[in-house]
Parts: sequence; structure tokens; C-alpha cells
Amino acid sequence: MYQLILSALTLPLGFLTNTPQTSLTSTKTIAHCKSSPQSITWPSHDDWSALNRSIGGCLIRTAPAASSCYKGNPFNSPHNCSEVMEHWKFGAYHAHWPESISYSIFTNNSCVPPGNNGYDERRGCSIGALPRYIVNATEEDQIAKAMAWASERDIRIVIKSTGHDFNGRATGAYSLLIWTHNFQNIEHRPDWRIPGSKDTADVLICGGGTIWASAYEAAYKAKRTLVGSEDVTVGLGGQISNGGHGILSIHHGLSSDQVLQATIITSEGRRLVANDEQNQDIFWAVRGAGGGQFGVVTEYVLSTHPLPENVVSSAVTFWSRDDSEMMEDALWAGFAEFVSRLPDLVDSGITGTVDSMSGRMALKYLPIPRNISGPAVTAKFVAFNTTVGSMRHKLRRLVTQLHNASGGNLSLTVTEPFSETFWMYSKPRLASSPFAGASRFYTGRLLGRAELSDLPRERLNHHLRRMFVAEDPEEGTLLRFDIQAGPGTAKVPKERWASENWSWRTAYSLTMAWGAKINSTEDPSSALQAASDWYEKNKEPAWRDWAPAAGAYMNAANGYSTTWKHDFYGDKYEKLLEIKQKYDPKESLWVVGGVGSDKWNYDLHSGLLCRVDEE
Ligand SMILES: Cc1cc2nc3c(=O)[nH]c(=O)nc-3n(C[C@H](O)[C@H](O)[C@H](O)COP(=O)(O)OP(=O)(O)OC[C@H]3O[C@@H](n4cnc5c(N)ncnc54)[C@H](O)[C@@H]3O)c2cc1C
Ligand SMILES: *[C@@H]1O[C@H](CO)[C@@H](O)[C@H](O)[C@H]1NC(C)=O
Ligand SMILES: *[C@@H]1O[C@H](CO)[C@@H](O)[C@H](O)[C@H]1NC(C)=O
Ligand SMILES: *[C@@H]1O[C@H](CO)[C@@H](O)[C@H](O)[C@H]1NC(C)=O
Ligand SMILES: *[C@@H]1O[C@H](CO)[C@@H](O)[C@H](O)[C@H]1NC(C)=O
Ligand SMILES: *[C@@H]1O[C@H](CO)[C@@H](O)[C@H](O)[C@H]1NC(C)=O
Ligand SMILES: *[C@@H]1O[C@H](CO)[C@@H](O)[C@H](O)[C@H]1NC(C)=O
Ligand SMILES: *[C@@H]1O[C@H](CO)[C@@H](O)[C@H](O)[C@H]1NC(C)=O
Ligand SMILES: *[C@@H]1O[C@H](CO)[C@@H](O)[C@H](O)[C@H]1NC(C)=O
Ligand SMILES: *[C@@H]1O[C@H](CO)[C@@H](O)[C@H](O)[C@H]1NC(C)=O
Ligand SMILES: *[C@@H]1O[C@H](CO)[C@@H](O)[C@H](O)[C@H]1NC(C)=O
Repeated sequence: MYQLILSALTLPLGFLTNTPQTSLTSTKTIAHCKSSPQSITWPSHDDWSALNRSIGGCLIRTAPAASSCYKGNPFNSPHNCSEVMEHWKFGAYHAHWPESISYSIFTNNSCVPPGNNGYDERRGCSIGALPRYIVNATEEDQIAKAMAWASERDIRIVIKSTGHDFNGRATGAYSLLIWTHNFQNIEHRPDWRIPGSKDTADVLICGGGTIWASAYEAAYKAKRTLVGSEDVTVGLGGQISNGGHGILSIHHGLSSDQVLQATIITSEGRRLVANDEQNQDIFWAVRGAGGGQFGVVTEYVLSTHPLPENVVSSAVTFWSRDDSEMMEDALWAGFAEFVSRLPDLVDSGITGTVDSMSGRMALKYLPIPRNISGPAVTAKFVAFNTTVGSMRHKLRRLVTQLHNASGGNLSLTVTEPFSETFWMYSKPRLASSPFAGASRFYTGRLLGRAELSDLPRERLNHHLRRMFVAEDPEEGTLLRFDIQAGPGTAKVPKERWASENWSWRTAYSLTMAWGAKINSTEDPSSALQAASDWYEKNKEPAWRDWAPAAGAYMNAANGYSTTWKHDFYGDKYEKLLEIKQKYDPKESLWVVGGVGSDKWNYDLHSGLLCRVDEE
């Protein structure tokens, strides 16, 4: 209160003496910001203790895992520093540490262990933009009570399952974090009655904090499988609620297409069972546009599928013969041809991932023996219930097309197709996912035949070249095609489509482009701003030119794009906004690129989340 009055009084003086008008803005923002420890409304220590008692003592005061790496272990982290340092690159460890997320830039690099990206000795270890308190819930009632308590006090709430989100949507300064980690119950039910129908379905009922590894293991015990993430350390929570794709999407659609029921706790503390029969609006919203926005999903009921009999896998890798300009043209012509054929390949039953890389990145990941020009391409292909012969045949055709288009001027290898059981291929390997770090900020679109096949090759060639623009050309960049949609997402009955972007129904490739250089020792707020400005100037216009009608997958796209409303939600935005207002009237749940998020400004530097629409 005093602070508020004081700055209001000093305002005219500041204005006259021509000092920056920070007092003006801070007066305004203080009045319209979510609560922070500087606010008079911030709960006292005793208030927090009262909350703690009311939820059975499961409230944790944030103690960054890497605190033990700093002098005196300022937050008394129980974790051994050398172990934190060693495991920092693994998303699975961030999932186990209550406060931690995979990409530390969104925590303002507040407490990074030495030797890791984002570490800066001078920065030290602070709570920074990490949540202040964490609800280590084991029961729905604890979540309900804590959320209602925080909402009443205008405290920001964030939800974390694993912390994998590429836009840092599972963290936030001065927030109360609801950690779904203990919601790991899994139950197989072969004949679960579908609400609003006489039919039954074979389902797996999974707690909202389950990771795909556990869900796949449980389904396999019942000789079934699920449509989930390819990376098994990913959580069901954010993956499903924002759509979700994986190796079986080519046959069965998105992860969110498999949801028959979700149980959701809202920020007002209501528990809603949502399905085709009741609470249909929020049921629709949490299947595609929902991560961290409408409430905490504590349970999903998911359709299971029969196990494929086998998996045949193979790989195709190519790059230019040398670094001459002629070879570069040949490479681009071949690459464009290759990309244009991906939809046909998917329709023939092949799914997988195509990575194309330039510069030092290509030299690092591929066994390139000499200098080349243009990007190098490596594609991993898989198909189910098929033969080695059939895969060989399909790839031979593809390679001939590639050869034709490039005039035979490529260095090309095809890995001999290999058949194994589905479980041998997909058995969860937790330690195989060392992708965490300071940031992996990128941009993406869902591309269909219109953008991949039904355009002149020269146009496609032009678009591909533009996607290889890199802030540091020597370092190079990555363009990835996850060909995990096609017939599977198209054939899902329309009545099961929900709030995911419907570009998925015509998409063949979730395409992702990197290229910005993120300076991890800079102030994270400026570094993120610089990176999003760079994408806005260099990559977003290229997408808008290449794929003006295409949507984006929120989990694999740029939440800072100026056209995020259009990219993620399109014509569903107004309906989603109504649902948001109905279930989160205090707007306690804020995420970047979320529905209604533009009414607020989140300043990573001050940590404040403030209204922008009340002048
Ligand atoms: C290494 C890696 C590989 C990946 N591979 C794939 C892939 O193959 N397929 C794919 O589809 N995606 C993939 N992703 C993207 C992944 O789907 C997203 O990162 C997703 O946000 C992860 O969800 P999470 O719950 O694990 O993460 P979190 O970061 O914990 O959550 C993500 C968002 O969902 C919200 N959320 C989490 N749990 C809940 C809940 N129970 N209720 C309500 N909101 C919740 C959070 O608030 C946050 O906004 C990958 C990501 C990484 C890092
Ligand atoms: C909450 O209560 C438990 C049990 O009394 C205690 O161990 C824990 O430290 C408390 N948490 C906070 C934030 O005070
Ligand atoms: C931390 O772990 C390392 C390696 O596991 C071990 O050598 C060391 O003794 C541990 N330190 C402490 C303080 O427990
Ligand atoms: C974020 O980090 C910068 C320094 O890099 C610091 O000046 C700022 O106060 C920090 N903000 C928060 C909320 O931690
Ligand atoms: C969270 O709660 C679970 C279940 O009560 C407990 O086993 C675990 O130790 C708690 N985690 C932390 C970090 O307090
Ligand atoms: C593979 O074949 C099995 C057994 O015939 C069948 O149940 C399953 O649905 C098929 N899977 C796919 C992905 O085609
Ligand atoms: C490859 O290119 C680099 C930089 O242009 C050059 O230094 C190097 O000698 C080249 N190597 C070969 C084998 O030509
Ligand atoms: C390759 O080119 C030749 C000659 O132009 C043509 O006959 C053949 O059909 C082409 N093959 C494929 C697979 O496109
Ligand atoms: C491939 O290389 C040959 C010469 O080796 C050249 O004549 C031909 O035009 C090249 N093809 C393409 C498509 O660039
Ligand atoms: C990164 O930022 C730091 C701090 O602002 C600066 O000293 C350094 O020069 C920057 N590095 C690069 C490569 O731009
Ligand atoms: C998906 O995104 C596109 C492009 O932004 C948008 O026009 C469309 O309305 C969205 N579609 C749906 C129906 O989800």
C-alpha cells in the first residue's frame, strides 16, 4: 500500500525531472498484477501454513534441485550436486524434481548447475521465476482446495506433469504449482461403458501425472497399446491436452482422439467428470487446446488398440556429392522431390521422422566425409504389420525418384530394412532422452498435400531454402518433418474432433524449424525476446508464405508468434474464450499462447503477470 501511494506521489516529479517513467508504469501494473511477494495481498507465512494444514501437509516450499551446487546450499536442496549436474540434460530428472522444468530459460535460469547451458556463476541460485510453492498432491481434494485458495487470493497457478513443455508452460514466477506427479494410477478395463452410448470400449484409465512409459508398459501387459508420444518420458497431461502425436497416429489419429473421459479440477476447486454426456464444453476444450489452461486433469480414460504384429524400420540418408554450386542445386532439387513424395509414402503405410541439417550441425550428427553444400538429410522410416520386402520396394521407388530429380548427384545410403516385434521396437527406454537444457525454442506448422505435394517443385524448393536461414550460418540449423499424421488423423469420425487445430485432419507432417541463436548467458527475458523477434522476422513470414492456411501444434510451435491465435486456435478461439471464462473466471491459469493470454503481460524480468487491457 505504502509503495503504491509513494510512487503515485512521486510520479509528477519524476515526469518533470525527465527520469524514466518507471514509477508510472509500476503504479499501474501493481494495481493490476497477479499477487507477488511485493504485494500487500501476498499471504503471510502463517497463511501459507494454514493452507498447508488444510491440504494434509503436502505443500512444499520451492527448493531448487541445483541449490546444493551453490555455496551454503541456500535452499537446502536434498539432492547431491554432482548428480544434479550429471542429470540436468535428462527430462526425466526434471520430471522428478518438483519445481524443475526441462528448459531452464523459462525459469529465468534461476538455479542452473555448473557445466550446463544457462549457467552463469554471477547469477547465483535464487527462486527467480520458479514457482514459490508446490502442491505435492496425492488426492484430488488437495488440488481443489489449493487452487480455490490461490484463486481467491489472485495468485497465479501453474500445472506441471513432467516440465517438458518447449515454451515453459509448466512454470511461472510467484505462482503456486500444482504437481500432478503422484497421479500415477493405471487400470486396464476391457469393457468400460462409453458414457452416452450403449457400447463399451477397451480402455486404460490413467492418472493425470502418468508418463507414456508407464502407460505403454501397462497396456502391453494387457496385450494392447496406446496412441501416445514417441518419446516415452513425455507426460500424458500436456501431450494429450494439446493434441499429441506418435508412431501410431498414422493408423489411429491423435492422442486426444482416444480420450473417452477426463476428470478435471478447476481453479475454483470444482471436480468435473467430462465426457460426451456431461460437461461437454470443457471435455471438448481439454482435447487439443487445453494444456494448463482450463484446469488440472487428474485422470484420462483412453481407448486402447491391438498390438501391431511387427515393425519394419529402415533409414535413408543423403547429401550432396561435394561443395560445388552445381551439386548444391542437385541436392535441393532432390530434397524437394523427396519432401513432395512424403504424403504418398505415408498413405502407403510408412511413418517416421525426416531430419535435415545444415552447417556444423550436419557434421556433428552425420558421418559426412567431406565438405558438402546444402543440407544433409536423414530419414527414419517405420511401418507396421508388413514385410521387409514391402518396405524395400517402397523405398526403392522413393530413391529412384530422388535419383531422377538430382541427376544422380547425391551421396545416398539406404539402411537394409529390419523387422522386429512391436515391443522390441517400442519398449520404453527412459535414459534415451537427453534433450533438456537452457532452451529448444523453435517454430512449426502442420503441413498437408497442399504445402508438400500439390505445388510446383520450384516453389517447394524455394520454401525449403528459406526454412534453412540460420542466425549463425556456420552453425547451421535443423528442419524436421514428423510424418505422424495422414490417414490416421483423417479417418477419425468428425464427431470425435475437438479443440485441436483441424489442420491435423489433412496434415501429413508436423514440420519444425530452428535457427535462432539463443544467448544463454544473457538476461533470459532479453534472450527470449531476441529469439522470438528473430523468428518473427525470419521464419514466421516464411511459414505464412508457404502455408498460410495451416495451423500449428501448440506443443511443437512458437508460443511467441504474433499470429498465435490464428496458428493454434483459428475459428475456435471465441468458443474457447467463453469456456475459459466459465471455468477459470479469475484467470488464475496463464500460459504463453493460451486462450485469453493476450489480456496479460508476463514479464520474465520482473516476474510480474499484469493486465494490459485496462487503461
Ligand atoms: C524430448 C521431447 C520429445 C517429445 N516428443 C513428443 C512426441 O513424440 N509427440 C508429442 O505429441 N509431443 C512430444 N513432445 C512434446 C510434448 O508433448 C510437450 O512437451 C508436452 O507439453 C509435454 O506434456 P507434459 O505434461 O509432459 O509436460 P509439462 O511441461 O508438465 O506440461 C505441458 C503443458 O501441459 C500442462 N499440463 C501438464 N499436465 C497437465 C494436467 N494433468 N492437466 C492440465 N494441464 C496439464 C502444463 O501446465 C503445461 O502447460 C516432446 C517433448 C520433448 C521435450
Ligand atoms: C507442510 O507441512 C508439512 C507437515 O507438517 C511440513 O513437513 C512441511 O514443511 C510444510 N510445508 C511448508 C511449506 O511449510
Ligand atoms: C554425490 O554423488 C557422487 C557420485 O554419485 C559421490 O561420489 C559423492 O560422494 C556424493 N556426495 C555427497 C555429498 O553425497
Ligand atoms: C531474471 O534474471 C535477471 C538477470 O539475468 C535478473 O536481473 C532478474 O531480476 C531476474 N528476474 C527474476 C524474476 O528472477
Ligand atoms: C511428495 O509426496 C509423496 C507422497 O506423499 C512423497 O513420497 C514424496 O516424498 C513427496 N515429495 C517431496 C519432494 O516432498
Ligand atoms: C496389425 O495386425 C494386428 C493383427 O492382425 C491387428 O490387430 C492390428 O490392428 C494391426 N495393426 C495395425 C497398426 O495395422
Ligand atoms: C571444409 O571447409 C572448411 C571451411 O570452409 C575448410 O577449412 C576445410 O579445409 C574444408 N575441408 C575439406 C576437406 O575440404
Ligand atoms: C525416372 O526417370 C525416368 C526417365 O525420365 C523415368 O522413365 C522414370 O519413370 C522415372 N522414375 C521414377 C520412379 O520417377
Ligand atoms: C548432375 O551432375 C552431372 C555432371 O556430373 C550434370 O551434368 C547434371 O546436370 C547434374 N544434375 C543436376 C540435376 O544437377
Ligand atoms: C551473450 O550475452 C552476454 C551477456 O550479455 C555477452 O557478454 C556475450 O557477449 C553474449 N554472447 C554472444 C555470443 O553474443
Ligand atoms: C487451424 O489453423 C488455421 C490456420 O491458422 C486456421 O485458419 C483454422 O481456423 C484452424 N482450424 C481449426 C478448425 O482448428
